[in-house]
Amino acid sequence: MAFPRCSGIVRPFRLITVPLLAASALAVAACGDQPGGPDPDELRQRFDLRTLGEIPYPPDNQPRRERMLLGRLLFFDPILSGEKDVACGTCHHPDFAFADGRQFGAGVSGVGLGPDRVLSVSAVTGDPIPAEARSTPTIFNTAFAADGEGQPSHLAPMFWDGRAVGLEGQATMPVPSRTEMRGDAFAGSDEEAAAVTLDSIIARLRGIPEYVAQFRSAFPDEAAQTVGDAAVIDNSTLARAIAAYERELVTRNAPFDRFVAGDDGALTAQQREGLESFFTTAKCFICHRGPMFSNFQFMVTGVPRAGLGGSVLPGDDTGREEHTGRPSDRYRFRVPTLRNVALTAPYMHDGVFATLDEVLRFYSEGTPRHDRVTNDDLEVVMQQPLGLTQSEVASIIAFLESLTDAGTQLDPLLLSVPTTVPSGLTPVFGLGAASGN
Ligand code: HEC
Ligand code: HEC
Repeated sequence: MAFPRCSGIVRPFRLITVPLLAASALAVAACGDQPGGPDPDELRQRFDLRTLGEIPYPPDNQPRRERMLLGRLLFFDPILSGEKDVACGTCHHPDFAFADGRQFGAGVSGVGLGPDRVLSVSAVTGDPIPAEARSTPTIFNTAFAADGEGQPSHLAPMFWDGRAVGLEGQATMPVPSRTEMRGDAFAGSDEEAAAVTLDSIIARLRGIPEYVAQFRSAFPDEAAQTVGDAAVIDNSTLARAIAAYERELVTRNAPFDRFVAGDDGALTAQQREGLESFFTTAKCFICHRGPMFSNFQFMVTGVPRAGLGGSVLPGDDTGREEHTGRPSDRYRFRVPTLRNVALTAPYMHDGVFATLDEVLRFYSEGTPRHDRVTNDDLEVVMQQPLGLTQSEVASIIAFLESLTDAGTQLDPLLLSVPTTVPSGLTPVFGLGAASGN
């Protein structure tokens, strides 16, 4: 054992407040219950363990409660979808940690929620609507997505391939996507449909007096500058309102966060062992680091192929190349955050792994792998299988579970689906739905 065992001794130089003293007393007790494992202080000193900092707000979207609450209504209102049957919250649902628990997202024409959701046909044309080509990521903590330098930024790339810029840039993109929200309600090429759909959705919102009133109080400066009450609703205010809600979905109270803040007992001995492996032998930290456990770079890991794929190679998703068109970006995917990862199975851009155990086996054994990715194509750190022992795998998974906080410090309102939305539709489910939430 390279590190001293739990000593339970209160170290000098630490600012001790009364609550901290109580916490360290608890920690000693917890330590006694779980002997062994690396020393907490040693871990905090050796590795760059950090909690989430201040939210990086864009200059034109400073926090404002009316705006955030309006964004919440829009997020759960199916009025944003062509066939009025899907909301953002259908796929990013609080019951599933703002993801959907599915291998592939299921939008227009679907019935049900999460893994039970079943796709059907467009209510407009009767044509079948396929699932998404990719797995739905969580919205939790997207405020902290980082730029190329690793700094949290409101202009960070979004999506598995980084094709959107920031939450504001992303917010209206699902609307024109046939599978996500458009359906067959607006015909034409994708570009034509994109223009038509957003305009039509803005027109819909402008026709709902409660939205007009709420947008005016959420955007007073813009309201003062526009002619006509309803004109305050445009692409920009719509995007900013939705982003304002998403940006507050921050979770800072995972056991890991309490551990970093000095609560030795917040992690079990096994979790501390997992933490140590994560930052040493298992090399996870090379890509999953910083407060979000992601460097937000685009990396080739050779995740096996599943799903519909993209447009570059038939039946295959080439990742960042789908967006940039650069062959050097082939099979690069953005490193995802690992916060709340225990709540957001299945895993990877194509949801190909059902459990964390499968993910760890993939990293440990180097198989299964994408049939077109050679060993040389992989990031150097991935070129050698890790050969982790079963007990290392178990402790790394236990550590990943310490990154869970489903919003315990958030205003419960932010985590709840509104019972009614200004359109009068059933939140999340749309028209004629049997049950709302
Ligand atoms: C049909 C399911 C579905 C619906 C509806 C949907 N999303 Fe998503 N969302 C996804 C999928 C799938 C991805 C990943 C797509 C990709 O990376 O190419 C995603 C990605 C995102 C991301 C990027 C997160 C990150 O870390 O990069 C954000 C933010 C987001 N969605 C917000 C929204 C908003 C806002 C709406 C409503 C306007 C919405 N979504 C509607 C399935 C959905
Ligand atoms: C070379 C960079 C790199 C290293 C090293 C790495 N990862 Fe990843 N990780 C990624 C990328 C990129 C993805 C997304 C890949 C994809 O979807 O195709 C990912 C995905 C994941 C996911 C799925 C998350 C989700 O929401 O779907 C988990 C869990 C994970 N990694 C854990 C680990 C662990 C544990 C280790 C160490 C054993 C590790 N990673 C090492 C880059 C890396």
